[in-house]
Amino acid sequence: MTFETIIRGGTIVTASDTFSADIGISGGRITALSETLGDAPEIIDATGLLVMPGGIDSHVHLDQPGAPGIVMADTFETGTRSAAIGGNTTVLPFCLQQKGQSLRQAISDYQAKANGNCYTDIALHLIITDPAPQVLGQELPALIAEGYTSIKIFMTYDDLKLADSDILAVLDVARQHRALVMVHAEGYDAIRFLTERLEREGRTAPFFHGASRPIPVEREATHRAISFAEIVGTEAMIVHVSNRQAMEEIRRAQQRGLRIHGETCPQYLMLTEADMDRPGMEGAKYVCSPPPRDSDSQAACWEGLQQGVFEVFSSDHCPYRYEDEAGKKAPDGNNSFRYVPNGIPGIATRMPILFSEGVGKGRIDLNRFVALTSTNHAKRYGLYPRKGTIAVGSDADLVLWDATRDVVITHSLLKDGCDYTPYEGLAVRGWPVRTLLRGVTVMKDAETGSRRSGMELQRSLF
Ligand code: URP
Ligand code: ZN
Ligand code: ZN
Repeated sequence: MTFETIIRGGTIVTASDTFSADIGISGGRITALSETLGDAPEIIDATGLLVMPGGIDSHVHLDQPGAPGIVMADTFETGTRSAAIGGNTTVLPFCLQQKGQSLRQAISDYQAKANGNCYTDIALHLIITDPAPQVLGQELPALIAEGYTSIKIFMTYDDLKLADSDILAVLDVARQHRALVMVHAEGYDAIRFLTERLEREGRTAPFFHGASRPIPVEREATHRAISFAEIVGTEAMIVHVSNRQAMEEIRRAQQRGLRIHGETCPQYLMLTEADMDRPGMEGAKYVCSPPPRDSDSQAACWEGLQQGVFEVFSSDHCPYRYEDEAGKKAPDGNNSFRYVPNGIPGIATRMPILFSEGVGKGRIDLNRFVALTSTNHAKRYGLYPRKGTIAVGSDADLVLWDATRDVVITHSLLKDGCDYTPYEGLAVRGWPVRTLLRGVTVMKDAETGSRRSGMELQRSLF
């Protein structure tokens, strides 16, 4: 057999196995796994390194339009570049339908932003904000059949939220056409009530963002979303779960045999509400929704990862620059937390944080790390086994990982379009040293070059 590239001498880790083998690559795919393979034009020495499926981050916001005057910090170019730095080979950004817009138009707008600009492969989720009869009756079924098989809906935010009746209708289309609904579970009315009360009391600093959406707000919406999925008879993914009560709602549903899935993110393991209490506007750097909570919530999120309540670990990368009036220092943000754009960056730091805090500290094993950061995303979103594993026939999407490398996270390492990381100064052990997309190196020793060979992937039905 001949190969274009051989990765030699590494320890291969998949979601199920850990073993030593060489990997032969031809035409962008893995064509052989063997104790030893012969020669090839390119030999990559992986001695002493882990070789894992490239990371798949299934919750990412890139170049997403927001409130007037607010600009997201990452384009598809800078966001996927940072993803490759962090060991990822596929990301799934959201395609936001603007009110009144057709879904097809929304997709072609995002394709225009993405085409030719991506360092990693991508696949788009839809966000439905305007479930008009034509959208739910014709467009959505047609797009699901074309592979747009995951749809995010919001239970909060003025411009994004769906009424309960619309949530039920979207879930029903998903059931009929075999798509998966991803739910942002926070209750709009409760948040508005608490926000107005906090503002009347003059409690308007970024810290009070957390008080405007406390744990019961998320628990109630999680319970409602699960109940709606049960009533309709379909599956749902509760995204960015931040605390024990919401996690327990999901666990209970799973124990009752409902097909309810869960996702959590690094911010819910690493940050707390105290981070939003930093002086001046500094707390705005940590404003995201649901907000970071407390140490028991962190422990619960670890428990959910260890026990399988959460099947995916995603970044919810949603970057806004800090020193920027189009970002975290939006002019009205001084008057109230409600005007601080919600979301924090984290696309490059997701895997190193889970590796260091999870594998390094004995909370999860290597195989679960791979499942949570790659394999389960591929399975859940219709990309497996092309993506998310190391097997003959799969795309040669790989990350070479130095499990002994000590790194102090600092923003300049991450090569994104933001101007800060919430994890500045965090010491981690374990770091990606090389990323290959379909057999071609897209990141080596923290450099990506300018090769942007990522493409939009066709997904199979959920
Ligand atoms: O604060 C966050 N997470 N903003 C991003 C949008 C979302 O809800 O995922
Ligand atoms: Zn959300
Ligand atoms: Zn998000």
